[in-house]
Amino acid sequence: MQDHLNLSQLEKQLSHYSLNNFKEQFPALKDNNLIYFDSAATSLRPQAVLDAFNQGYGLAGNVERSLHTQALTDLVQAGKQALVNYLDPENPEANRLTYTQNSTESLNLLAQTLGEFWEAQQKNQPQAKYYILVTQSNHHANLLPWIKLCHSYDFLELKTIPLLADLSLDLEYLRQFCQEHSQELLLVSLSAVDNANGMVHPIGKIKEILSTYAPHTWLSIDNAQGSCFNAVYLEKSHSPQGWQADFLVGSLHKMFGLTGIGYLYISPRIAELSGKQDKNLALLAKFFNLNSQKTPEVEEKKLEHLNIPLPGNSLHHQWVGGGFVKSINLREPCYQLQESNPFLVSGTPNINALVTVASNLNWLTAQPLKQLYEYTHTLQKYFLARLASLPQVANLSQSKNICQELQQNQAPVVILPSFGHHISLSIEDGLDIDLGQFLAQHNVVARVGKHCAYPYHEFLGVDSTLRFSLAPFNTKADVDTTIDLISQFLEQNL
Ligand SMILES: Cc1ncc(COP(=O)(O)O)c(C=O)c1O
Repeated sequence: MQDHLNLSQLEKQLSHYSLNNFKEQFPALKDNNLIYFDSAATSLRPQAVLDAFNQGYGLAGNVERSLHTQALTDLVQAGKQALVNYLDPENPEANRLTYTQNSTESLNLLAQTLGEFWEAQQKNQPQAKYYILVTQSNHHANLLPWIKLCHSYDFLELKTIPLLADLSLDLEYLRQFCQEHSQELLLVSLSAVDNANGMVHPIGKIKEILSTYAPHTWLSIDNAQGSCFNAVYLEKSHSPQGWQADFLVGSLHKMFGLTGIGYLYISPRIAELSGKQDKNLALLAKFFNLNSQKTPEVEEKKLEHLNIPLPGNSLHHQWVGGGFVKSINLREPCYQLQESNPFLVSGTPNINALVTVASNLNWLTAQPLKQLYEYTHTLQKYFLARLASLPQVANLSQSKNICQELQQNQAPVVILPSFGHHISLSIEDGLDIDLGQFLAQHNVVARVGKHCAYPYHEFLGVDSTLRFSLAPFNTKADVDTTIDLISQFLEQNL
């Protein structure tokens, strides 16, 4: 699709889309004239998901516990299978998926589990330094757990892949870092799609760099913003094997689903690390460049007898309790778990939400996702073009050197680089909060703030931004109404 079309060309393009009343499926939009531009925070739910919720709520009992609740368990399992089919169509393995509450919980769980694992490993090399790489545009959910981890363990250091002047990632920095620290770089953790501006990162290319220069480094993808159009982004990643992430996390509430369900999906090479210790020693020794050093023999014998993976040689469940215990011995004391996926968490899950996953995913995958993605991107371009035509607005959406141009800019409203389905504005002196409130009074939902991306805003040198995040249920009429309101506000306040 061309990116520089004028208004009339964009209008014409929009009129060619026939989305079969996609919008009608969302009850929240039916009765109250709501114009919802906050789908990057949480998407609205279609009737199909609400029906599944109502049906599931009537089913009694717990899951994976007793025979009388087999139907409930089957429903939850079907949801898990549907999710992995969607996330990993080439190799969908339900037992590599863990349900959490949201992406934030998935990332915290991941950080805690890996921290414990790495700590046990590095005991063999107490002086060594190891690195975790994040990006400056990551959401806080993908920054704070790693910062916290680096505070807990002296041998870990956090490094940042810098942003370039056009807001893309400095992949040359990544390449050099991998080359220089191929043995010490433990993990690269970044978003597939940034939440503040919608930038889609070239995950296929990043994977290629890792495979070439630091093949033992693990790749963790925060797919919170990407999950909804997974297949479209996979295609764009230019990698025939897809992302091949070692860890993939996301939240169903950004996929037209319910709040309270997140996921953490692991690659086969990570799943291997949860098995028996012997299989893993060679792999880990290679990774840490060590001779395999086992824990003291007595300890090993004791644990081997109970078939428990040795500390340091395997990834370990963080939250244990009821749910998947195979045996427990209070004399030793020891336990053995049934499940091999090291990220599974014990206890009763969010059943009321989980029973909707199968319907949620069946509904999502039945939609013409590529067409919906393209329609929404065309609508975003139309929105940008209409904004750019307002006299108070400077259009820096295509800027290749945004920080410098922002400094030189005199206009009270600036369109910042905005990608995919996002529109990002910088507005002078706190007027963005007033504009956000004005829009809300007229039933238009947008978001003002730093969008849990403080380092990104620091990079731009702006206090906050006004973000519109679009979805396929948004229409040209939504945009026209919003532009009229923005124009009215700016005329009254500037
Ligand atoms: C890129 C990204 N990662 C993580 C999160 C956190 O998601 P949740 O609030 O579902 O944990 C968000 C939420 O907006 C996000 O956009």
